Amino acid sequence: MNLYDEYCLPHLIHCACGLKVIQQQREKVVPLAEGRVLEVGMGSALNVPFYDPGKIKFVWGLEPSRAMRKKARKNLSRAPFEVRLLDLPGEEIPLDDDSVDTVLLTYTLCTIPDWRSALQQMRRVLRPGGKLIFCEHGVAPDERVRKWQDRVNPLWKKVAGGCNLNRPIPEYIEAGGFSIQSLDTGYLPGPKFAAYNYWGVARQA
Ligand SMILES: C[S@@+](CC[C@H](N)C(=O)[O-])C[C@H]1O[C@@H](n2cnc3c(N)ncnc32)[C@H](O)[C@@H]1O
Repeated sequence: MNLYDEYCLPHLIHCACGLKVIQQQREKVVPLAEGRVLEVGMGSALNVPFYDPGKIKFVWGLEPSRAMRKKARKNLSRAPFEVRLLDLPGEEIPLDDDSVDTVLLTYTLCTIPDWRSALQQMRRVLRPGGKLIFCEHGVAPDERVRKWQDRVNPLWKKVAGGCNLNRPIPEYIEAGGFSIQSLDTGYLPGPKFAAYNYWGVARQA
């Protein structure tokens, strides 16, 4: 790991993910989580204040980056429920089959290298009837914006910790074995190439 990944990137991710428009997105989805929750790619634990504590039994916080886990300490210390950290990637979820009620995925599917096996892992650990709650940025519907996303992506990926601008989020979720029950989409304020969001709830297909 180089100095940029270890020191600059966690700070940049924490600031970008802490923007007001992103926090407003969290408000729409995180309170839907309930029971035994697995949050994949917990980052700096910015979702913690948005959970409805009365509905949460505990949260597994899976985060492969040591630097991001360190950055999460402050928010985790304020969590009004138990958070159990897992230092592994989404492709290697070390939990039993059917052992969680909710999987929460916010602004992480853009980054997971083997997204298909990670989603299959999420499906495996989710109990029948459980829900995958997601809020992600991804490919835009407008051709002009999409062209920019494709152009900028190679450089973006290098400076943004492996994040992709142009992933077709609903397609990936369905290819991972889920059926989408509710889906909202739209541009958030900001540069259009990074602003198209998908959020909703999916269940096992
Ligand atoms: C843009 S951040 C989002 C963090 C957090 N979910 C949020 O909403 O603020 C993406 C996170 O995905 C994590 N990540 C990278 N590769 C991953 C993988 N293979 N499995 C799970 N998380 C991963 C990164 O370390 C980073 O913390």
